Amino acid sequence: MRNTKETEREAEDSDQEINPCTVLLVQEHEEGKPEAIDDLVLHHHQQTFNLESIKSAVVIRQLPSQGLSFQLWPAATAFVSLLDRHDRSSTTLSSLLNRPHLGPLRILELGSGTGLVGIAAAAILGAHVTVTDLSHVIPNLKFNAEANMNAVGLNGGKVEVAALGWGVEKEMEAIKENDEYDVIMGSDVVYHDHLYNPLLQTLKYFLLGDRTKKEMVFVMSHLKRWKKESVFFKKAKKDFDVEVIHKHDPCDGSRVGVLLYTFVAKNKKKKVEVAESQ
Ligand SMILES: C[S@@+](CC[C@H](N)C(=O)[O-])C[C@H]1O[C@@H](n2cnc3c(N)ncnc32)[C@H](O)[C@@H]1O
Repeated sequence: MRNTKETEREAEDSDQEINPCTVLLVQEHEEGKPEAIDDLVLHHHQQTFNLESIKSAVVIRQLPSQGLSFQLWPAATAFVSLLDRHDRSSTTLSSLLNRPHLGPLRILELGSGTGLVGIAAAAILGAHVTVTDLSHVIPNLKFNAEANMNAVGLNGGKVEVAALGWGVEKEMEAIKENDEYDVIMGSDVVYHDHLYNPLLQTLKYFLLGDRTKKEMVFVMSHLKRWKKESVFFKKAKKDFDVEVIHKHDPCDGSRVGVLLYTFVAKNKKKKVEVAESQ
């Protein structure tokens, strides 16, 4: 049986990167293109996700003609299916997410897109979740958050929506002031190389910012598409311990499946101990 390091290396080094899911990126140039409201309503898709664990469902509106931020990505659906059975399928994920004695889990999601992952996490875990994205994506995120208020509230969950451009100091500060988070989540947020640095900057801001505080973790669901993505992981490993904690089976026609990673600040424990002894 292959261990997680081998799985990770295999995913990072593979040359075979043709995946049907890649086609979604073709529509990126249409991002933010103005469209009459009637057209938007005509072209929207509502997708229902049954959540077995809470005997409920969330319904997500997509606006495909508006670009990639308005569509559901494969890593999101894989992440949600794992969240829905996290206590059975991944002990690492389960131990990160189950902490009933400490009150609701506080989650910050980066690059939420349609909001499926954050909204489903709030519903399943009874978590307080802030879903975020670029400002032009916020109206659809709000629409989906409001449309799922009942399912989210079943276990005491809550969803807030906020604009957060990666690396945008003012927006990162506003988010940090507003709440303290236990977990940061992201799905399919590593795709274009010009976004690697802003994303890493954001992760460093939230995970390395105050080293005297408790350990925070970034849980990232990711479907590898290009070899160049190894650059992101190499850079990330300078500051974070990166581990694959779950591997989904590949979807039809693919060699690699969605992987779930955790990123934890390097030497976090050591630094906390030093700070406490001073
Ligand atoms: C590939 S989509 C994934 C969306 C969603 N997480 C999913 O899995 O369905 C990447 C998301 O990252 C967001 N994004 C891209 N660049 C960003 C930036 N500089 N700051 C914040 N979000 C960004 C996009 O708007 C988009 O929603």
